[in-house]
Amino acid sequence: MSFTIAIDGPAASGKGTISKGVAAHFGFAHLDTGLLYRAVGHRMLAGEDPVAAAQALTAEDLDRDGLRTADVAQAASKVAVIGEVRAALVDFQRAFARRAGGAVLDGRDIGTVICPEAEVKLFVTASPEVRAERRWKELTGNGFDVRYDDVLADVRARDDRDSTRAEAPMRPAEDAVELDTSEMDIETALAAALAVVADRM
Ligand code: C5P
Repeated sequence: MSFTIAIDGPAASGKGTISKGVAAHFGFAHLDTGLLYRAVGHRMLAGEDPVAAAQALTAEDLDRDGLRTADVAQAASKVAVIGEVRAALVDFQRAFARRAGGAVLDGRDIGTVICPEAEVKLFVTASPEVRAERRWKELTGNGFDVRYDDVLADVRARDDRDSTRAEAPMRPAEDAVELDTSEMDIETALAAALAVVADRM
């Protein structure tokens, strides 16, 4: 039997950590769908055609080093506006969602486009300033020399591109539960998400 949890939201909202925590708690598999777009963006930066790259993508591409950089994040959101890129990635995500034993998928359009029938839908947000601060701490903690203002500008540019695109724009599904983590630490946010899921099981 499959059970799908869709977790959407903008960059650094906490959705990634929440998704991992929810999956670990229930023993479900987890797919970070942003990695698919990052892998395609990475290949585009290396000179490949993004549509061809999306069509040829394999599971190994998701384990590649260098997918977490700011350049790849921006490239990901650029290839993510291309309808043919998105279309090439649908089947893989839907098959993952239907696997036996339960699945958590996190992204931007999981509750709206990829898994509109998901048993649980969460939309995780936080203010752009809070998200930029989290991302800045994470990047500097990993040794990247970046300025907060530049990280905030990147966050805003990506939010704007992701929420205004014609294909599968980032937005909460009508039946999604919204979770604003601006004032929450990660333990509190995860507990709130687990409570929403438990309520629907
Ligand atoms: O979640 P992450 O920051 O890794 O996503 C990178 C980019 O991939 C996003 O900014 C967005 O443009 C794109 N994306 C998407 N749909 C998803 C997941 C990610 O368009 N389901």
